Amino acid sequence: MKASAIANANIALVKYWGKRDSRLMLPHNGSISMTVDGMTTHTTVEFDPKYERDIFILNGEELTDALGLPHLDVIRGMAGIKDNAKVVSESNFPVAAGLASSASGLAAVSVAGAKAAGLDLDNKQLSILSRRGSGSASRSVEGGFVEWYRGEKDDGSDSYAVQIAKPDHWDFRMVTVVTSTKEKKVKSRAGMSQTVQTCPYYKDWVETVNHDLDTVRKGILNKDFTKVGSTAEYNCLKMHATMMTTQPPIIYWNPVTMRIMHAIMDWRDEGLESYFTIDAGPQVKIMCMEKDVEEIKKRLSEIEGIEDVITCKPGSGAKLVDDHLF
Ligand code: PMV
Repeated sequence: MKASAIANANIALVKYWGKRDSRLMLPHNGSISMTVDGMTTHTTVEFDPKYERDIFILNGEELTDALGLPHLDVIRGMAGIKDNAKVVSESNFPVAAGLASSASGLAAVSVAGAKAAGLDLDNKQLSILSRRGSGSASRSVEGGFVEWYRGEKDDGSDSYAVQIAKPDHWDFRMVTVVTSTKEKKVKSRAGMSQTVQTCPYYKDWVETVNHDLDTVRKGILNKDFTKVGSTAEYNCLKMHATMMTTQPPIIYWNPVTMRIMHAIMDWRDEGLESYFTIDAGPQVKIMCMEKDVEEIKKRLSEIEGIEDVITCKPGSGAKLVDDHLF
């Protein structure tokens, strides 16, 4: 009843923002992401009657409010078991700072937890299970370039993620720039629900996403960097526009975030083609081709206030491993 898994984070090119069902984590819109190889969570789950309560330890610290805790009930419900669990998880990047830690974290808990609970699930079922833990986690089950279908059904059985292209399809890169490792004030879950409820432009977001999905999906398949980068950047700005116009407003950017955004636009004018995307936090993910990574890192080293730079390639999907953390 003990199993371990490794899952990578993913960064959305077309974002998921807003739920139509918050219990089942059903999104208002589909999304497309790249699973990244540099940001990984390793998790061991054990269900055993010897545990008097569920225990969740992340990076050596016991948490009582981890998203993984209520998720254990979903896994137990599916498996028809009642035992408590111990979960030990290790992430090699800052958590809860807008670096998609929930995606790798909840995908790893789902893959390890399902196995530890005696379930034998295929990738579609694992994606649906991961989605119940955190929407974006549905995309970390698969590697490379991934699309999460919105789905139409009320029970969520058609809302899961599939691979569009394998990790080695393309030398597309994501240079992740950490501008702050402080925990963000508004978690994505609260930010999303506030946006759906109070942003007057939310319907415009939903109406225009399908067009972005088509453009980015085709762009990935055709390896059209300009199409993918420019559409992803624009989609990110549209999402942030909905965040900023909720009540109360949510502004995830800090001055360093903005400095980097402006630098990227200047670099483009100078012929260095790169684009930015930003999630529910202040970190900037720079989309570029492999040939430009070194030049971009050099230019970033001249910008003040950057805490860390992590270069990510397309990574593999979540998988079971033999290496247990306890
Ligand atoms: O799955 P969550 O609750 O961590 O939400 C993720 C939301 C964004 O990162 C902002 C967008 C996305 O599609 O990953």
